[in-house]
Parts: sequence; structure tokens; C-alpha cells
Amino acid sequence: MDNKWRLSCCALPLFFIMCICSTLFLLATTRSNAGRQESAGAGDQQTTQIQILDRRFTDSELEQGQTIYTQICAACHGIDGQGQFPEAPLEPDSTGRFGAPPHNETGHSWHHSDVSLIRYVTEGGFSDSTRYYTMPPFGEALTDEQIQVVLAYIKTMWTDEQRAMQRQLTEEEESMFSN
Ligand code: HEC
Repeated sequence: MDNKWRLSCCALPLFFIMCICSTLFLLATTRSNAGRQESAGAGDQQTTQIQILDRRFTDSELEQGQTIYTQICAACHGIDGQGQFPEAPLEPDSTGRFGAPPHNETGHSWHHSDVSLIRYVTEGGFSDSTRYYTMPPFGEALTDEQIQVVLAYIKTMWTDEQRAMQRQLTEEEESMFSN
């Protein structure tokens, strides 16, 4: 009787202490794992210098943009953004029409502000169709998010200087409209 009583007297608190210790241990390990995952994620997601309006893009968002570009835009604008007729990208072809312009540093896509680039992709081209091949509207096929990431990817094909000039143009346009 005495022995039993002594046993439960010691065992019960011991049991509780063990419970508390293992809970604390579990909490500590899950916390430190979560921390590690967060910092690994932050490594992958480095924010680049590429910007559209007020938004900056991470490497993985640019990769998503590249996938969309390759699947949809490259058919006309060229896989490396070299344009529809790479031999003479900014000249009319034998039908007298201009093809899809290059998006790389040889083109002039960077002469358009962010708002106008977004509008181009959403609503399609609006040039005279006897002089230009047509640029289809993608406002239905692509979400606003997809349009932003694909345009962000196109910006990776420009030089730093072109990006800076296009940024300035975008900001000037924004301040013109906000006044
Ligand atoms: C069927 C061919 C075709 C496809 C596919 C296409 N484009 Fe175009 N794109 C054109 C043509 C042609 C023009 C020039 C038309 C015009 O100015 O009216 C153009 C013009 C543009 C412009 C204006 C650029 C400039 O330098 O004036 C942008 C931006 C653009 N396209 C982005 C895209 C994106 C992004 C995609 C993919 C989501 C895409 N295009 C898919 C044919 C295409």
C-alpha cells in the first residue's frame, strides 16, 4: 500500500514533466524548421530590378513570365524576342506589311510606357492591318497577373539603359495623369 502510494506520487509529476518537455521540444523543432523554410524561400524569391508600375518581380515570377512568353508570344515575336522576320525585323515583308516587332534590345518595345504595354497585350494591336500583321488581344486568354509577368520577362531582354529610360517614360506619364 505504502509502496504503491509512493510510486504514483513520484510517477505522476514525472509523467507531467515529461509531457511538458516533449511539447516544448516539439514546438521548438517546428518553429526552427519553419524559420529555415522561410529563409530558403526568401533565397529563391529574390526580388529583381525588373519593375512594372509600382511592382517588382521575383526570379520565379520572371520564370513564369518566360513560360507564358515561350508558349504564346514566341510564335510571332521570336523565341529570343528577335521579331517575326529576324533578317529584317523592322522592315515590311513582300506583302508590304510589318511583322511582329522584336522585343529584345534591337526593338522599340521599351519606347512604350508600362500602361501602354499592358494595353497592347490586353486589347491587341491597333495599327492599320494593311501595313501591319495583327497583334491579337490577350485580355481574355490571360489574367492581369499573367500579362504583368510576361511583360516583366520581356523587360529582361532590354539593356539597363533601355529599362531606365522606359522607367522614366512610365513615371513621366504617371505624373502627367495624376496632375
Ligand atoms: C499572332 C502573332 C502575335 C502573337 C501570338 C503575339 N503578338 Fe505581340 N504583336 C504582334 C504584331 C503583328 C504586333 C505589331 C502590331 C501593331 O503594332 O499593331 C505586335 C505588337 C506587340 C507589342 C507592341 C510592341 C512594340 O514594339 O510596338 C507588344 C508589347 C506585344 N506585341 C506583346 C505581345 C505579348 C506579350 C504576346 C504574348 C502574350 C504577344 N505579343 C503575342 C503579333 C503577335
